[in-house]
Amino acid sequence: MEQTLHNLKNQALAQIISAESLEELKNIRVSYLGRKGQINKVTEELKNLGTDERKALGRLLNDTKQALEDALTNRIQELTHAKRQEWLDPTVPGIEPERGHLHLVTQAIEEISRIFEKIGFTRVRYPEVEWDWFAFESLNMPKEHPARDEWETFFVDAPENKKWGKIVLTPHTSSGQVREMMRLKKPPIRMINIAKCYRRQSDVTHNPMFHQFEGLVVDKGINITHLKGTIDHFAKSFYGPTAISRIRPFHFMFTEPSFEVDFSCIHCNGKGCRFCKSGWHEVGGAGMVQPNVLKAGGIDPKEYSGFAFGWGVERAQLLKPGIELDDIRTLYSTDLRYLKQF
Ligand code: PHE
Repeated sequence: MEQTLHNLKNQALAQIISAESLEELKNIRVSYLGRKGQINKVTEELKNLGTDERKALGRLLNDTKQALEDALTNRIQELTHAKRQEWLDPTVPGIEPERGHLHLVTQAIEEISRIFEKIGFTRVRYPEVEWDWFAFESLNMPKEHPARDEWETFFVDAPENKKWGKIVLTPHTSSGQVREMMRLKKPPIRMINIAKCYRRQSDVTHNPMFHQFEGLVVDKGINITHLKGTIDHFAKSFYGPTAISRIRPFHFMFTEPSFEVDFSCIHCNGKGCRFCKSGWHEVGGAGMVQPNVLKAGGIDPKEYSGFAFGWGVERAQLLKPGIELDDIRTLYSTDLRYLKQF
């Protein structure tokens, strides 16, 4: 009797698994589990058995029925799911996943590196946490020199090094100048160093963390016309062919002579408007590398000369038309309503 049940169960399971339609499953159910089905026939024979045997067989019967019910439910689910897939209509428009994009500042960094790489500059990266020596001293700003005040530097609470001094958060990308001279040992140098910088400033036009891009060219016979040409090339590539640049005398310890650099306003083409007032936007500093800086980098200033410039990435990018921002700190907020626009 047990054997018969076993065989019936296996036979039914095999049929259920290979059934291809709900109709077929219905017939299988009737043929095994129906009132006159094969399993019920076995049940009828229970009455001819002794008590113990009846109990054991009764349990086996129930288990068999349950197993078949489970298998039927599974197969029904599989078949109805497959039906839904058969119905798939490839012309129904799909649900498009939301797509993000690069942050405005990353876009600017990529564009700036491309512009300079095209004219032979190499992009480099130097530490965000820097020795005082690279940030100031090698740049002709000895300890205690008042010029340092301008950089409103964050100092790291760590032991001072005898040779390199204190540890600071890089206050400007100029800290890469002497690093690059030391890395290459010998000119020609054409560096574009784009990096995060930190200063203790926070207001509508300053964020304590911002980015600068620093150009450095050192070779034989480099003069101011090379600097001016490079600045103009950048203005036209970044803002469009009508953009022009100008340099005004200024003072930095690490360049001689030094300049401030302005670009003509793209909104009014230099005529003066609500964005620029004067027709110009100031973007940063530049100048001819001071001989002491070349010496600090192991380069002979009698043989070589160079120029350098350092400008803010955010500032340069925000001067582009179509980008209006009342508070620069919004750039680094997580407010997607603003960030999604670009
Ligand atoms: N490092 C200067 C600043 O942060 C800018 C600069 C770079 C000036 C290179 C001259 C040459 O203001």
